[in-house]
Amino acid sequence: MTSLESASLVYADKDGDVFACHDVSLEVRPGEFLGILGPSGSGKSSLLYLLSGLKVPTQGRALYRGRGLDELSDAERSRLRLQTFGFVFQHPFLVGYLSALENIMVARPDQDCRDESMALLEAVGLGEKSHRLPHELSGGERQRVCVARALLGGPEIVFCDEPTAALDHATGIKVMDLLRSHRGTGSLVVVTHDPTMLEGVDRAVHMAEGRVL
Ligand SMILES: Nc1ncnc2c1ncn2[C@@H]1O[C@H](COP(=O)(O)OP(=O)(O)OP(=O)(O)O)[C@@H](O)[C@H]1O
Ligand SMILES: [Mg+2]
Repeated sequence: MTSLESASLVYADKDGDVFACHDVSLEVRPGEFLGILGPSGSGKSSLLYLLSGLKVPTQGRALYRGRGLDELSDAERSRLRLQTFGFVFQHPFLVGYLSALENIMVARPDQDCRDESMALLEAVGLGEKSHRLPHELSGGERQRVCVARALLGGPEIVFCDEPTAALDHATGIKVMDLLRSHRGTGSLVVVTHDPTMLEGVDRAVHMAEGRVL
């Protein structure tokens, strides 16, 4: 569905080029749960940015349904990010002056998605806190709002970068159960340091020094 062909992501650094991803070929298949493991700095976040079109490969190609992401217009690329993909970032992003519920609804500005957003907040255990502003939530609660937002509208692929890192084990398991339940409608790609979060995974890839092993 979305894939990389010999893709590299290179950052220019004062000491030379940093290959955050190095010659990676990888496909996310329809409906699969793909896990990505690897030490800190091995390129896992960079890999998600390439697969989801948030970053453009320095070399090689990123494709969606066989079409190069670089061939899409800005409008097509933004539709892909907004409607086709969901993203949970490693560091949760919420709009500071919007409530938890509103922070979910902003992901679909053109639709009436209040009921679905509320149901997702309840699913992540925050139904009672829907009116709270981000600074009135704990770090783990904010991360759960981000998980709910990523699932809104049933995206084709949900990319999650350490979605359980700020959570205790039991809450992490619950969040992973919710993410796994998304597999009925789409694919799930999860970066994690914790292999116990990858129960039921279809495929796990390991990264080291920018390469998929
Ligand atoms: N904007 C940047 N400029 C220069 N180097 C960068 C930049 N972003 C990331 N890197 C480097 O690219 C490499 C891969 O980073 P990346 O964030 O993808 O790793 P990661 O596997 O997600 O690590 P972590 O588990 O700590 O989140 C690292 O060496 C990092 O220092
Ligand atoms: Mg990372």
